[in-house]
Amino acid sequence: MTITAADIAAMDAADPLAKFRDEFVIRDGLIYLDGNSLGVLPKRTIARMNTTINEEWAQGLITSWVGADWVNAPTRIGDKIARLLGAEPGEIIAGESTSINIFKALTAALSLQEGRKVLLTETGNFPTDNYMMQGLARFSGGSLECREVAPEDVLDALDEDVAVLLLTQVHYKTSRIRDMAEVTAKAHAKGVLTVWDLSHSSGAIEVDLNGAEADFAVGCGYKFLNGGPGAPGFLFAAKRHHDAQPVLSGWFGHAAPFDFDGEFKPASGIDRFQCGTPPVLGLAALEEGVDIMLEADMAKVRAKSVQLTELFVTLMEERCGEFGFEFICPRDPAQRGSQVAFAHPHAYEMMQALKARDVVGDFRAPNIMRFGVTPLYLAFADIAEAVERLRAICVNAEWDREEYRTKAAVT
Ligand SMILES: Cc1ncc(COP(=O)(O)O)c(C=O)c1O
Repeated sequence: MTITAADIAAMDAADPLAKFRDEFVIRDGLIYLDGNSLGVLPKRTIARMNTTINEEWAQGLITSWVGADWVNAPTRIGDKIARLLGAEPGEIIAGESTSINIFKALTAALSLQEGRKVLLTETGNFPTDNYMMQGLARFSGGSLECREVAPEDVLDALDEDVAVLLLTQVHYKTSRIRDMAEVTAKAHAKGVLTVWDLSHSSGAIEVDLNGAEADFAVGCGYKFLNGGPGAPGFLFAAKRHHDAQPVLSGWFGHAAPFDFDGEFKPASGIDRFQCGTPPVLGLAALEEGVDIMLEADMAKVRAKSVQLTELFVTLMEERCGEFGFEFICPRDPAQRGSQVAFAHPHAYEMMQALKARDVVGDFRAPNIMRFGVTPLYLAFADIAEAVERLRAICVNAEWDREEYRTKAAVT
């Protein structure tokens, strides 16, 4: 059955999230399928940054730490993110990069796992997760072992030596969703604590951290949460783990930072996972992105995401079936996050040619074209048009040009 223009128009007419598109700055003609890498700019963020810079910083200066409540931004925004992820107030702190939060979460978990030496993860994960783990093992001078096994071997590798299992819930290339509750239960059965990387989950799929009995989690603010380039990430620690020892024991994690005590005494709650002075400008931008996400019902976001990715896959089969694209994500939408990806021998050049036609996705080495699907600002018609433009560059081999072969620093 062929999908018609009337079908697409009907999908857009029935879309309960269509009104959100107007919240974002999206230039005419652009089809942006990279919100899983960097989300677009919310219009309200412009006003917020103006206030934060011109009033709170320029006029209020240091008084704004209290007067504009800068000091509580990490927990205030953390509590908002908690509402998106099935966590309680006081379980999430916003701030730092995801990489740093991975380090904090791993070391916090280790502090609760005396006698266990192994850090377990899967190969092919987003590299920073594995790099942070490898660095920690090296820093331990041999007392910790970093064990990386094939994705299908992770559950079998859980044993009494493993202290912590680090996994990404939605895989950055294949979009495969791990069952957080099932994997966590299997880890717990062997006494293993879990750290979940939710970079491609937060704002993209429904997450229930406490329902899954997750121990620790981290995630990015600049992807589906639309927090801006290099936005602070977040760290979740389940309340039962709030006696974990922070290794990055900076003064903002102290019970009373302004006592300027000579000895580190960790704060009692999630604050102990803070380290240095919070990045106020980044947090202000992140808060606006999170607020918009909270206004949209996550169940509706997920439902539209599934419809959008299904449409993408179906149209790729119908309109680009003869050009050799291999769909590398799960075919079952329940197992797939909010992105689709296709392997192709000329993926890099094709992505450049597509960008020249104002469709922005990204390339992931060695041969993957990845398209993020963001229900708050994409219409069904955008997906149809993106597939048409891809077809156009394939039909006349428009991608096969010298200028599309040079690799950029960021892909
Ligand atoms: C799964 C995952 N973890 C972590 C990161 C990035 O971490 P950081 O914000 O520290 O660069 C990404 C970035 O794309 C990612 O996909």
